[in-house]
Amino acid sequence: MSGRFIVFEGGEGSGKSTAAATTAKRLESAGVDVVLTREPGGTAAGERVRALLHHDLAPWAEAFAFLVARAQIVEEVIRPALARGATVVCDRYEASFIAYQGYARGLEMAPLLAANEAATGGVHADLTVYLDIEPGVGLKRKLGEDEAIRTGLETVDFHRKVRAGYLSQMREARAGSWILLDGTLGADEVADAAWVAVQG
Ligand code: TYD
Repeated sequence: MSGRFIVFEGGEGSGKSTAAATTAKRLESAGVDVVLTREPGGTAAGERVRALLHHDLAPWAEAFAFLVARAQIVEEVIRPALARGATVVCDRYEASFIAYQGYARGLEMAPLLAANEAATGGVHADLTVYLDIEPGVGLKRKLGEDEAIRTGLETVDFHRKVRAGYLSQMREARAGSWILLDGTLGADEVADAAWVAVQG
């Protein structure tokens, strides 16, 4: 038996963490066995990786740090939950990696994809809910949050490349596997639209 794997993606200040949490709550209220988790993090080792990501890492060191967290969360949390039939809701996953380390940081795509495939062991999202927002708007929303790791503190230009990276992945994705929501909508409207997408 295999459960459903739903990933929330988006740029800084897009509201995806709130949308992921609300969706998980609604699924739970509907009687679904649901596991809510986030990347990087989601495991004790992953939380240690977050601390590492505050350092000024070389681009490939940063990439491998994200992969340490991903390889661990897949084996420790995601794969076992899906195997028992649970629905997994994850705040960021591999689309973040392709958008941030690939399109924005500019690392070569072929080795990035290969390393990511090794880390995920072929576990991919059934549905990616992408909250789209103009980076200038999103970054303003995040001002005042001091927890941000280094990728979150990059220039607006970097975050424009992140956005282009998401949109390009969405264009290339299997039909119906991605849904784009307007990140400028209010939290309730986003939650309702995400709920429709999750049920569809
Ligand atoms: P985080 O503090 O979790 O906040 P949020 O998800 O709300 O933005 O930030 C995670 C940061 O890590 C964010 O800037 C995106 C970045 N990231 C990558 O660069 N690559 C990845 O593979 C992942 C999962 C995240």
